[in-house]
Amino acid sequence: MIRSRIVGTGRAVPAKKLTNDDLSKMVDTSDSWIFERTGIRERHILEPSLAASDLATEAGEKACRAAGIAPADVDCIIVGTVTGDCPFPATATFVQKKLGARSGGCAFDLSAACAGFLYGVSIADSFIKTKQFKNVLIIGVEVLSRIVDWTDRSTCVLFGDGAGAVLMTADSGGVRGLLSTHLFADGTQTDILLQHAGGSREPLTADNAKRFFVHMNGREVYKHAVRNMAASARTALEANGLTPADVAWVIGHQANLRILEGVSERVGIPMDRFFLNVDRYGNTSSASVPTALDEAIEQKKLREGDILVFTALGGGLAWASAAVRW
Ligand code: ACO
Repeated sequence: MIRSRIVGTGRAVPAKKLTNDDLSKMVDTSDSWIFERTGIRERHILEPSLAASDLATEAGEKACRAAGIAPADVDCIIVGTVTGDCPFPATATFVQKKLGARSGGCAFDLSAACAGFLYGVSIADSFIKTKQFKNVLIIGVEVLSRIVDWTDRSTCVLFGDGAGAVLMTADSGGVRGLLSTHLFADGTQTDILLQHAGGSREPLTADNAKRFFVHMNGREVYKHAVRNMAASARTALEANGLTPADVAWVIGHQANLRILEGVSERVGIPMDRFFLNVDRYGNTSSASVPTALDEAIEQKKLREGDILVFTALGGGLAWASAAVRW
């Protein structure tokens, strides 16, 4: 049986940090308000001369190196992002060129907001199992600082920039690797988290710049995030005949500490088995899960055979889960 296995990870984080105290000089907020409600202390902001593909390429290079797979042997690059270099072509094609991946291989972006990375993992798994591609690089990257209204305290304190990548490859005969993925969406909730302008419905003009920025109904997003991330994590367990006690680590979308605490309570997995880095990065949307995975590996938290559960939710709403035997 062919199984998809993550054999390398990497992350790229901009050098510039923006702390809660820095933000309190920009808008009417405070470190205590932000930390108590979100668990965030600081986030990283990409310098103006760089774009999503620069971060994505750095994370992708590191994932290839960790896997011992040359970029020239990468068959397919999937980039989950809502803040790509430009509306088209795909950021993945810029990454393919910068990375030196195989020309004529496959490269595309997908839009599932904060669930983009896990959607990408699921698609990559299908490619690998059907033998269409062997080595697939999945990258989550966001430069949310470019679409945030820095005068709106209710949103600008939440987000950060970054990229995370995994190299997934075909593995036969072993028990380690991806056990399942589950993808979900609810198009009745498109209005609670979106950019109104900048697309074909409402092209960007001199008059609607504010509508280009992230619009969010925080309370509604919060409720859906807790409920659906928990439900999808439970689905991952049930699909594999696992119980909460079997799970070594939950690598959840790092939107907000309180959301993850809500998920922990609902699924019955204690918080000491949730890997956390939201305090240092804020919400990096599709980059958050692979970035957290890469840090967990770096900190030597994962042991061979560990059961990992991944879960994320974002605009759409779109959400997803995955289970892995590490
Ligand atoms: N600093 C100080 N005060 C603030 C700030 C701020 N940064 N932002 C809002 N406030 C004020 C509001 O104006 C309001 O004041 P008022 O009572 O005088 O009107 C008060 O704080 C309470 O505002 P609420 O929005 O009700 O605050 P809440 O407790 O709901 O927390 C938060 C807001 C943190 C955004 C919460 O709703 C949340 O976590 N939502 C999830 C949002 C999220 O994570 N989105 C990320 C994208 S989606 C995803 O990744 C899952």
